[in-house]
Amino acid sequence: MALLKSHKALFSLGHLAPCLGSLSARNSSWWGGVQMGPPDPILGVTEAFKKDPNPKKMNLGVGAYRDDQGKPFVLKSVRKAEEIVAAKQLDKEYLPIGGLGDFTKACAQLALGTDSQVLSSGRSITVQTISGTGSLRIGANFLGRFHGGPKDVYLPKPSWGNHTPIFRDAGMQLKAYRYYDPSNCGFDFKGAMEDISNIPEQSVILLHACAHNPTGVDPRPEQWKEMAEIVKKRNLLVFFDMAYQGFASGDIDRDAWAVRHFIEQGHNIVLSQSFAKNMGLYGERVGGFTVVCEDADEAKRVESQLKILIRPIYSNPPTSGARIATTILNTPELRSLWLEEVHGMANRIIKMREQLVAGLKKEGSSHNWQHVTDQIGMFCFTGLKPEQVGRLTKEFSVYMTKDGRISMAGVTSGNVGLLAQGIHAVTK
Ligand code: LMR
Repeated sequence: MALLKSHKALFSLGHLAPCLGSLSARNSSWWGGVQMGPPDPILGVTEAFKKDPNPKKMNLGVGAYRDDQGKPFVLKSVRKAEEIVAAKQLDKEYLPIGGLGDFTKACAQLALGTDSQVLSSGRSITVQTISGTGSLRIGANFLGRFHGGPKDVYLPKPSWGNHTPIFRDAGMQLKAYRYYDPSNCGFDFKGAMEDISNIPEQSVILLHACAHNPTGVDPRPEQWKEMAEIVKKRNLLVFFDMAYQGFASGDIDRDAWAVRHFIEQGHNIVLSQSFAKNMGLYGERVGGFTVVCEDADEAKRVESQLKILIRPIYSNPPTSGARIATTILNTPELRSLWLEEVHGMANRIIKMREQLVAGLKKEGSSHNWQHVTDQIGMFCFTGLKPEQVGRLTKEFSVYMTKDGRISMAGVTSGNVGLLAQGIHAVTK
């Protein structure tokens, strides 16, 4: 106490000023030199949207599913699972570092398939993560620490905006391969194959498993097959990001096809999964990170290192969302209800795509909007230029990312007409 008092006295006295002088001469505050950062390119759109008083405003920025009234959608299967979990009166103890065992098992099965040879032989490890972003970051850190090849990760051009800072902050070098063809708003298969065949051996390649974000453009199965071959020839480490399983086709297994195919072809992939979209568990932060290994012994060693990575970051993951997801995945009636709901969400989006194109035609647009219905998943990469996006926001209160991406999940029967009107106005 006496010591504390004397410290207080010292700090209140001017005589300490000379020894702090060099610091205070530079800055009057510890953080005086901190520069203002830009808003997040995706989540910043929501911040701007919230400030707009226009009652007809639309938030088509962040990829978050809305019902046809434009309201956040909590799945019935989630509500039921919550009731089941609540009735159990479970404790709130810490989870293991790698998460809830039943969850990680069900999570890996959902991606790899129940009959997966990798799972039955125990040559993979899955840890529970803080949704997809947390999974990618743990994965990026793991690669940064243990990947023996070049610390280069090749992202499709374009890729999800957050991929770049995630890998960069983990100490990886960002590179790119061609993916999107602006001339037809489709997949640049030839460009991708050419670029991939020139990637230095043992580098990391990131692939969106399905419902590519932001373009909504996926390779077809025969194209995936060729990609798996060339990736093997180059001896690349495959990092799959599967944040939208179920959203591309409405079918969970169909959407996991590429992941399963690569594994069948002998690729020991790493995989990020998220339950934000397909279970609507956005704020619960439920995800998984999987490493497919050579054998069970390698998987054990990898697991030990993942735990060492996770422990100083967040110690162990949260319980609530993982319990909900596990209950859905492991209770047959809830699982089938959930699969129906996933199908329903994917279908509503497909309908909105059709209505948007119909609306544009009705407005008299002479452009070819076929890509709006050809693209799949939550997003439509409209091809709008940043200045057109700027006008849409200013004149129609349509909030979307500057790259021209629209979250189709925010389009409803109530606002699709106005959206078509706005797009036509800025593109005619
Ligand atoms: C998106 O791309 O909008 C979503 O993945 C949400 C996010 O965190 O960016």
